[in-house]
Amino acid sequence: MKKIGVLTGGGDCPGLNATIRAVVRKGITEYNYEMCGIMAGWKGLIEGNIKAFDMRNVSGILHTGGTILGTSRTNPFREDNKGDPERILENIKKFNLDAIVAIGGEDTQGVAFKLSEMGVNVVGIPKTIDNDLPGTDYTFGFDTALNIAVEAIDRLHTTAESHNRVMVVEVMGRHAGWIATLAGIAGGADLILIPEKPIVMEEVYTTIKKRHNRGKNFSIVVVSEGIKLPVEDNKNEELVLQSTKKDSFGHVMLGGVGSVLANMIEKGTGFESRCTVLGHIQRGGTPTAFDRILSTRFGIAAIDLIHKGEFGKIVVLKGNEIKSIDLKKVMGHFKLVDDYWYDLAKVFFG
Ligand code: F6P
Repeated sequence: MKKIGVLTGGGDCPGLNATIRAVVRKGITEYNYEMCGIMAGWKGLIEGNIKAFDMRNVSGILHTGGTILGTSRTNPFREDNKGDPERILENIKKFNLDAIVAIGGEDTQGVAFKLSEMGVNVVGIPKTIDNDLPGTDYTFGFDTALNIAVEAIDRLHTTAESHNRVMVVEVMGRHAGWIATLAGIAGGADLILIPEKPIVMEEVYTTIKKRHNRGKNFSIVVVSEGIKLPVEDNKNEELVLQSTKKDSFGHVMLGGVGSVLANMIEKGTGFESRCTVLGHIQRGGTPTAFDRILSTRFGIAAIDLIHKGEFGKIVVLKGNEIKSIDLKKVMGHFKLVDDYWYDLAKVFFG
């Protein structure tokens, strides 16, 4: 009998529990594997925080947000975490783990890849609300975040119209503008600003003024947290950060660009402006049906790969088919918003 560990790493997102459920259910019922949960991402493997899982552990969790395993942004390969990769190898031996399913975004998969190079049997499952992992058309979590953002935009429309205001909606997505672009298209945004496209403030003002000149007395501007703005007069564009702290993978803490932008728009156009930051609301709560189904399909495909002995791979969605590719292929770059999507969105600007 084989023993398989499952972990969730990085920021949480809706659909993690549905994925864990699928991996564990099929592992037990079809392959007779001994399944266990590795708690709090790679941290659990470093510390040996590993729990036996049976069917009861994954019952009733399909529709729930968060992760029953807990998560962390622990990076065992960070310079000052010397000895962590060795501790991981020791614990894999100690707990007799034959393989690991790593559910996470590019940071988690980066660690999975390095471990697979060291001989660990790993299979990856792509998750992130940012949808920026290359090789897959969609990561799970994204659709839920998108729907939350669209609902917020719909609500902001009515209050924007009542007050003749410009409403700036700041969404997550880090350095990729997927949530902003697709939520903007679905929510009927009058302008969408994303990190992939350079921002010229004069053009922002002209677009909004043009719309107001043709009789529309409100505007919705969707902005991705990762855009760069000239925060002070005569200064170069830069990211707006919540703090100077970085996480274990070296990521800055984004957030706050929306209110800077709203102030600039108010000054530059003369129209009253307000900002709403959606923040972690986009990551919380129940997953959409799309995400539950994608999570389930990914989970099943991952445990099937383990059964076939195909390690060092990640499951992906291509069109409507679940496939797998080498983990190496998703390393070191992001999937960014391409011209097809932005050109489509632009038709409705102004
Ligand atoms: O990667 C997912 C994400 O939600 C990003 O969109 C966002 O920038 C970041 O995580 C926020 O991280 P934290 O949960 O550490 O605040």
